[in-house]
Amino acid sequence: MLIKIASEISAGLVASAIVLTSSPDQAIIDFNTTPAVAGVQIESDQLLGANNWWSYPVDDDIYTYSLSEIQERNEISLTVNKSFQLPQDYIPANLVFAANFGLSDDPEIQIREEITEDLSELFKAAKVDGHDLTIVSGYRSYETQISTYAYWLNYNANDVDAADKISARPGHSEHQLGSTVDISSKAVQNQLGASFNYSEAYLWLKDNAYRYNFYLSYPQGQEVKTGYSFEGWHWRWYGE
Ligand code: DAL
Ligand code: ZN
Repeated sequence: MLIKIASEISAGLVASAIVLTSSPDQAIIDFNTTPAVAGVQIESDQLLGANNWWSYPVDDDIYTYSLSEIQERNEISLTVNKSFQLPQDYIPANLVFAANFGLSDDPEIQIREEITEDLSELFKAAKVDGHDLTIVSGYRSYETQISTYAYWLNYNANDVDAADKISARPGHSEHQLGSTVDISSKAVQNQLGASFNYSEAYLWLKDNAYRYNFYLSYPQGQEVKTGYSFEGWHWRWYGE
């Protein structure tokens, strides 16, 4: 199935995998509507591992985009998940330092230039409502994702299943696109994990992030469709 899909993607026929919604209650990606590929509707369970919700498909069923097709298509809406991966040498063209836009205190965090305006507006609006937000992680290169995944594997005593629930393997992370950020707030000491998932700031983002074109990639209760545990901090920008 995925081989057929892959060839259609190569032909540039794939539509966006994601349907964005605009009401606050649905300010998340609607994973009920999965990629429409040249008229073929893919069931979400065909996109992910056959055995468990956190598993990867077998290697032959993982599609790696080529650099040229990434250039031809809109990177902003490109599906990146356990079935579709970015190549090692893909680096977004227009990365900027988030600190230069007052979006983070960390001088090393980079993000795509296109997302800075909406993110600045989002942070401003959050502040008015009492939430002091910051970017904790932005663009991550393929190489950085190797270290990130290795960190979580080690953290989980080499339990691959545990690591795969929370961290993408290299090439499979939306962070490599540069249009995805992990957001936290001062009220939870800029921590991620459970402290952010239960925070007021998360609830604010859930209600408001869509106004600035940011959508939650891994919502609570959607694990079977996303392949990851709930991450209240991981927001991807899709533009207008
Ligand atoms: N934590 C998310 C899944 C990532 O590693 O991109
Ligand atoms: Zn993230």
